[in-house]
Amino acid sequence: MGKNITLSVIKADIGGFVGHSSVHPGLLEKARGMLSGHPLLIDAHVTHVGDDLNLIMTHEGGRNNGEVHQLAWDVFQACTEVAKKMKLYGAGQDLLSDAFSGNIKGMGPGVAEMQFEERASEPVVIFMADKTEPGAWNLPLYKIFADPFNTAGLVIDPKMHNGFNFEVRDLIKNRKVVFSCPEDLYDMLVFIGAPGRYCIKRVFHRDTGDICAASSTQRLNLMAGRYIGKDDPVLIVRCQSGFPAVGEVLEPFAHPHLVSGWMRGSHSGPLMPVGLEQCNPTRFDGPPRVVALGFQLADGKLHGPQDFFADPSYDRARETANAVAEYMRSMGPFEPHRLHLDEMEYTTLPEVSKKLKERFIDLRK
Ligand code: 13P
Ligand code: 13P
Ligand code: MG
Ligand code: MG
Repeated sequence: MGKNITLSVIKADIGGFVGHSSVHPGLLEKARGMLSGHPLLIDAHVTHVGDDLNLIMTHEGGRNNGEVHQLAWDVFQACTEVAKKMKLYGAGQDLLSDAFSGNIKGMGPGVAEMQFEERASEPVVIFMADKTEPGAWNLPLYKIFADPFNTAGLVIDPKMHNGFNFEVRDLIKNRKVVFSCPEDLYDMLVFIGAPGRYCIKRVFHRDTGDICAASSTQRLNLMAGRYIGKDDPVLIVRCQSGFPAVGEVLEPFAHPHLVSGWMRGSHSGPLMPVGLEQCNPTRFDGPPRVVALGFQLADGKLHGPQDFFADPSYDRARETANAVAEYMRSMGPFEPHRLHLDEMEYTTLPEVSKKLKERFIDLRK
């Protein structure tokens, strides 16, 4: 058996350059300097998508490891200092507290983590999105692990034929439920079709119980009770040998689906797959972007990345996303381009309602 590895992807928006579009190279440099050769880690890769700084780390400390979370927190704090000096936009945006309390969850940054015995070959894909929310992974995860039209292996590979278990989180009531697919498919879709509330947190192999996928599921605005930004989630997926092939894992993104986020976190728009060179949301602060980086793990070393969506086979998806973006933009401030009212609860909308309260005349009297 291989080494017992923990793969932790921890991200935060700690200041945009310029506006909410990207991360300043000075922050990437600072983060790399702090993680490179750190004794807690086996390896680390620092990158960004849009204005979100992503720390990809391997270690042997397990999930929710206090020291690793503290390290990530310290990196975000130090980068915030750099961001403040340059007056980058929203410096420290996602750090909800000044003090660290042992676990980074609930403090603003997004966390996706998994612990596993490294296989003879361990290909992983790390997805990172900007201008959207954790539920954005529901549709692709459903396709990857439950849809035979997407994943040929569900039909062809005897090691996948029994299907996968999906752990779904209810982000409003803070509870979880496990669905065994294919049997529970229809029941599961009732919930994960509402991605603003129900999010796929983890996927497990049914025969072996092995972890296959893990996402970040925090909702900043729910934690803070006010508008901060969207959560710009991350997702880790293990591939091949009884798990979906790399190409099956990337396939759902060939058809950009509509996600919540975009301008002011308040609009619905297509999730555009892009390479790192194109990951800076521009038009109307968007459209929302997703990057997919591939790594081969070897004793925890991260060999990569392979920048998967920097490929001509995703050109058509980008064209589609642009066409959909054009169409959605024409709706302006009208639903469903603008998010539904209950999704606007954490924006300035409640203040507008309060201001106009006296002008509404009750017609029932
Ligand atoms: P748990 O809440 O199950 O510990 O999730 C840990 C994790 O993967 C971080 O989001
Ligand atoms: P971020 O969540 O990426 O910071 O974007 C916020 C925003 O308001 C974009 O228009
Ligand atoms: Mg931002
Ligand atoms: Mg962002």
